[in-house]
This record gives sequence, structure tokens and C-alpha cells, in this order.
Amino acid sequence: QPHFHREDGALHCEGVPLAALAREHGTPLFVYSKASMLDALAAYQRGFAGRNARICFAMKANSSLAILQLFARAGCGFDIVSGGELERALAAGADPSRIIFSGVGKTRAEMRRALDAGIGCFNVESEAELEVLSATAEAGGVRAPVSIRVNPDVDPKTHPYISTGLKGNKFGVAHEDAVRVYRHAASLPGLRVVGIDCHIGSQITEESPYLDAMDRILDLVQAIEAAGVPLAHIDFGGGLGILYGEDTPPAADELWHKLLAKVDARGMGGKTLMIEPGRSLVGNAGACVTEVLYLKPGEKKNFCIVDAAMNDLPRPAMYQAFHAIEPLQAAEGPAQTWDVVGPVCESGDWIGRDRALAVAAGDNLAVMSAGAYCMSMASNYNTRPRAAEVLVDGDRATLIRERESVQDLMLRERLLP
Ligand code: LLP
Repeated sequence: QPHFHREDGALHCEGVPLAALAREHGTPLFVYSKASMLDALAAYQRGFAGRNARICFAMKANSSLAILQLFARAGCGFDIVSGGELERALAAGADPSRIIFSGVGKTRAEMRRALDAGIGCFNVESEAELEVLSATAEAGGVRAPVSIRVNPDVDPKTHPYISTGLKGNKFGVAHEDAVRVYRHAASLPGLRVVGIDCHIGSQITEESPYLDAMDRILDLVQAIEAAGVPLAHIDFGGGLGILYGEDTPPAADELWHKLLAKVDARGMGGKTLMIEPGRSLVGNAGACVTEVLYLKPGEKKNFCIVDAAMNDLPRPAMYQAFHAIEPLQAAEGPAQTWDVVGPVCESGDWIGRDRALAVAAGDNLAVMSAGAYCMSMASNYNTRPRAAEVLVDGDRATLIRERESVQDLMLRERLLP
């Protein structure tokens, strides 16, 4: 994981030892590397050099304000999926014209707010939504910029819960319906058709699904334009995987070199290209530091019980996801095999299984690649306050989110009279 390295055995994020951060802020603690995020962004920027392109961070991956601010300052737009994400993006200083709004269930109130804010594009996912968006925009005296999310029907070869571009998924409109739906959209008075959108899934580690999806989308662009609906942009979604363990995802710049060759071959290089990367911008930029509470060796399994749990790190419980787990201080003793588990009262509350670790109670461990879909998916299950977050820049660390308190959790509740 770039920008996480050891000095004298001590795990550092950039210039800061993680152990010092754990001492200062307590655990569980999310630690992010600013350089790692900007490097990940730079790989895409290199891929699009000299092009008319827009990178919209899919903020569902990590929506902490300071991180959004970092990407906004670096020129990113944002892919949002709720009114809540819109307010976060605006609060972080996002340029509204660079915000695109995805998701199958936008409410009228969310549409109104996004129209008022002047967002760049609505990625519409159904015909019913087209009608409602058109009516909502008309009532406000404006035209909503839209692209329609189409399902290229390619298998991204990833976990079924995070495959989204197949028939039978709830997302987008079917490939074979696309031309008809575009004609319909172009006829609605409250809409202005500006582009086409797709997103085939997440944690994609092979090139071929992307290359296939691009062919299918470019076929559609030709067909839609031939039907008299010009498209100014192609939004190719997000989904590029990161290295968690054994995965070997393609590099963003190399992948885009190949994808852009396809675009150019069709003479479509003049269109604006948009992407919605989430995980690949932040996933490997974060780690979650946790403390070993108890060791519980057993007949069948040895359990290493830590103070982070499925409410902080939900990916193993939800997707059987693998995250590397490393001691903050390289250990001298012999390693044993442990299941690293949290305090939550569910057997599904595990963070890593069968890990070789030399650990003792009181040690700190780092759960790696925890920058994406961890804090943003954290919950308060078991009345566990959410962790604190720190952003490291060189040898400076900034607290970007205070640890939640139990009082925070009870704030909106009322006892019976
Ligand atoms: N665009 C759309 C329309 C999406 O639905 C998503 C992710 C993205 C972009 C960003 O995809 P990324 O570049 O991050 O792969 N919680 C799961 C991942 C869910 C992804 C949902 N959609 C996980 O932890 O693996």
C-alpha cells in the first residue's frame, strides 16, 4: 500500500508513525494518506491528459468532508447518490456544475434541491424517473440536464453484491431499450439530453469487462445519435479495483489508454469523457488502527479480539472481503493463526480469518486498504460510536473527524413522558 511503510519496524503513514496517532487519538482510528489519494487521482489525470474529461469522485466510497474538500481543490467533480451527499459535497466546496446525480430512487425533493443547486447532470435510471424529473424541472421553470444509465450487460467478474451492469440488476435501462428511451427523453419538455452513462460494477480487477462495456456503449452512442439525439458526453462510471491481497487490477492510466483508443477509433474523441471512480481513489489511502483487547485461544480456533468491529469495517461481514492486517510494530515472537474479530455480538463480526500474527493483548494492529467503503458504511450497531479519522500530509496529521460520543448517539431520542 503506497505511502504506508515501515521505519525501524514501525508502521508509518507518510512521515507519521501510526502508533503515535493511536496514542493521541485512541482506537479504532482511521488514518488516511493525502499523497496516496492525490497519486491515485494523478493516474487518472495522466490517462486523460490532453482530453476533454471530468473525474467525478463517487463520494459514497468515502464522504468525509475534508476528503471531499481535498478532491474538490484538486479539480474533481462528484458523483452523488442522495440529497445528503449533495449537501456534503456543497459543504466541502464542490463546484455544483461538476456534480452528477446517480441512483435508482431519487425523490422529488432531492431533484428540486439538485436543480436549484445547478448540478451538471442527472444520471437517470428508469423511464418512470425521466417523467418525474421532467415534470419537476418544468414546474421549476428549468430544464434538467440528463444522461441515461444503460446496462451494457457485461459480467464484471466481481462479487454479485457489487455487480451492477447485468440483466437482473436493479440499475439502468436495458441495452435493447436504450434508443427508444432516449427518443422519449428527448421529447420531454423538462429535460435536456446531454450524455450517456454506465457503471458495470465495483472492485473490477480485469480489463476485459471494461473493454467489452466500452464497445457496447459506443455502439449505442452511434445508434442514439443516428436516431437524432446528440450526446455531448460519455460517462463510463467507476468500478476499477484496488489491491487488497492477491488482486492485480490494471493501472488507471494504462486501462484508459486502451479505452480511449476505442473512443478515437469511432471518431468520438471530441466528446467529453466522464468517470465516477470511488474505491480506486481512496481505498488504498487508508488504514484502520485497532487495539487487541483479548486473546482467546481455543480448541478449533484462536480468536484475537480487537476494538474495531463490523460496525467500523463492514466489508468482511457483508462481502467476505479480504483486508490485510498488520501489526503496527513488526513482531519478534513466533506467529500463531488467529481469527481477528470484533466485540459485536454476531458470528459475522470478523475482520480477518486464519491470519498468522504474533500478537499480545494491548498491541495495535492496522487493518489495511480501509479508505473506501469503511467509514462511509460504518454504523452504530451495538451502540458503538463511530471512529475518529486523521488525514496525514507528510509529517503533519490533522484530525478530520472527532470520535463520536455515546451522547451523540442518543441526541435525537426521547424518553416516554
Ligand atoms: N458510480 C456508480 C453509479 C456506482 O454505483 C458506484 C459504486 C460507483 C460509481 C463507484 O464505484 P467504485 O469506483 O467505488 O467501484 N460497498 C461495496 C461497493 C459498492 C459500490 C457501489 N457503487 C464494497 O465495499 O465493496
